[in-house]
Amino acid sequence: MHPLEQLRDDALREIEAARDEKSLEGVRVKYLGKSGSISEWGERMKTLGKEERPVVGKLLNQARNAVTAALDQRGEKLRAEKESDALASMDISLPGTPHDTGSLHPLHQMHELAEGPDIETEWYCFDALNTPPDHPARNEQDTFYLPDGRLLRTHTSTVQIRAMESAPPPIRVIASGAAYRRDELDATHSPQFHQIEGLYVDENVSVADLKGELEFFMRELFGADSEVQFRPHFFPFTEPSLEVYVRSKALKGGEQWIEVAGCGMVHPAVFEAVNKARGDNAYDPEKWSGYAFGLGMDRLAMILFEIPDIRLFGQNDLRFLRQFA
Ligand code: PHE
Repeated sequence: MHPLEQLRDDALREIEAARDEKSLEGVRVKYLGKSGSISEWGERMKTLGKEERPVVGKLLNQARNAVTAALDQRGEKLRAEKESDALASMDISLPGTPHDTGSLHPLHQMHELAEGPDIETEWYCFDALNTPPDHPARNEQDTFYLPDGRLLRTHTSTVQIRAMESAPPPIRVIASGAAYRRDELDATHSPQFHQIEGLYVDENVSVADLKGELEFFMRELFGADSEVQFRPHFFPFTEPSLEVYVRSKALKGGEQWIEVAGCGMVHPAVFEAVNKARGDNAYDPEKWSGYAFGLGMDRLAMILFEIPDIRLFGQNDLRFLRQFA
């Protein structure tokens, strides 16, 4: 037997005997490494005679190929064994590694709807809503103005105008989000609060539709035994205007009437302002009528979730937020 064949057989035996990847690597280095005993024959070839050289070259190639193939095969097998050992020794009854999942903020749980920007122009917040320049809502004491004359919207009624400017009647819109008014921050007041706005414009929409819809909505939200009351009020952009009160077991045990919304029939001046901006007469007040409402989300969320302090909504304290996950 040629010494190369001997080396090949030795290598194959040691490969078969290797119990882990580390000792297998040891075998590779011993025979096929830079100065491995098979590799060394490559050098030795140069010293051989013309006749011997091709014979040894062939043996060398065969030895290299056989050993390389055996190394690959054995390596594959050892890796597979290691993997199944790891799986076999794994206790699948052990508790898993806990990881945190996010959840919706309680205010978000109450709104999933259309939107307008928080930073608005006076047009959308006041002018188009029939709110004259001397109206107190426009006072610097009541509203956050930006240096460029824009402002943080004081209500979500801005979205009424945006919706009507971008689509002709009939339309139905529900929009929600933050609104801002200058207010001292305490347990029940916040300069940032949240509203749900509704708008419906069609032919022959009446106060009866408005009352019916809000009553239905309140009963869905607070339970079938809820009582709903409408009290006369004033908003520049609705006529007539009403405030909505609800009494329900879900709200403080049903002891008090709680104000939950403002609403009314869209004022013809609002339609005219929208027409002016659109450059058409799509919202002809002789043809179309509509109702709108604005619901205060924070107070409702506070009552429904029994949250004692409005400031908790804005503090992002996980101990608070996790209670609603
Ligand atoms: N925008 C009013 C407010 O913030 C509520 C309202 C909305 C009233 C729509 C009438 C119609 O108080």
